[in-house]
Amino acid sequence: MSNNKAAWDDFWRKSDGFRHEDVYSLINKAKFDYLKSLIPPKGRSLEVGAGEAHLSAYLAKIGYETTALDYSEEALKLAETNFERQGVTGNFVVGDAFGLPFEDRSFDLVFSTGLLEHYEDPSPIVREMVRLVEPGGLFFSDIVPDKFSLLRAFKSWRRQPDGMDGFYERGFRKEEIEKILADARLHEVEVIPAGVYPPELPLLHRSATYRRLEHAFLTFTGPFWKRLDRTMIAEWLGFYYLAHGVK
Ligand SMILES: C[S@@+](CC[C@H](N)C(=O)[O-])C[C@H]1O[C@@H](n2cnc3c(N)ncnc32)[C@H](O)[C@@H]1O
Repeated sequence: MSNNKAAWDDFWRKSDGFRHEDVYSLINKAKFDYLKSLIPPKGRSLEVGAGEAHLSAYLAKIGYETTALDYSEEALKLAETNFERQGVTGNFVVGDAFGLPFEDRSFDLVFSTGLLEHYEDPSPIVREMVRLVEPGGLFFSDIVPDKFSLLRAFKSWRRQPDGMDGFYERGFRKEEIEKILADARLHEVEVIPAGVYPPELPLLHRSATYRRLEHAFLTFTGPFWKRLDRTMIAEWLGFYYLAHGVK
């Protein structure tokens, strides 16, 4: 299983574009809404492993000075197009999460989504990200739990699912994530279970029409799913943990 720049370049080159009308677009919005509740109204943000940089685009919309970093130039091309479509501006930087090309304490918020679970040991990445946070600023990340999730019910029953078709991925226990963040000298660490969504149905979810119908259904029922965040139900069935800490 791969997880390298060439594989991600290939993935993004073949990507069919922007997730504005499927369950993942709702997940991105839900993650942003949670993040927004933790941060000041304005500031400088860095997204590491940004891909199409959906959360950065939301941040740019509320006035953040955003930087999206990825080691895949193909990802950053999509991120720039995403920003253009949304009518916002930002900075786009090619770089490696293990050696981020910025001075210490350059940002008020440093975050990632869909990145850490692709590494057996993401601690060096977390330490690098924390290095760039201004004292009093926020580190935020989601991370895939080491357990079953309802969204992926039909994809894999294994505890460490092979998520994005061929990319290395492993799940994490809540205590493991808390330790990684605490070891990176973050305070007020919180790891909350979230992301209960109905299962992605095999084959059907490849149909754009089905995805649009599902999007409409989930938009309508969104408040119900969101209310499950932080609960035992999310601990059993949630797709991700939301983890954050203050420097
Ligand atoms: C699953 S995608 C997540 C994209 C986006 N953050 C999201 O949630 O939709 C992971 C991204 O991390 C990038 N990535 C993986 N390892 C990286 C590294 N060491 N340095 C920089 N980017 C990395 C990949 O190129 C890919 O764009």
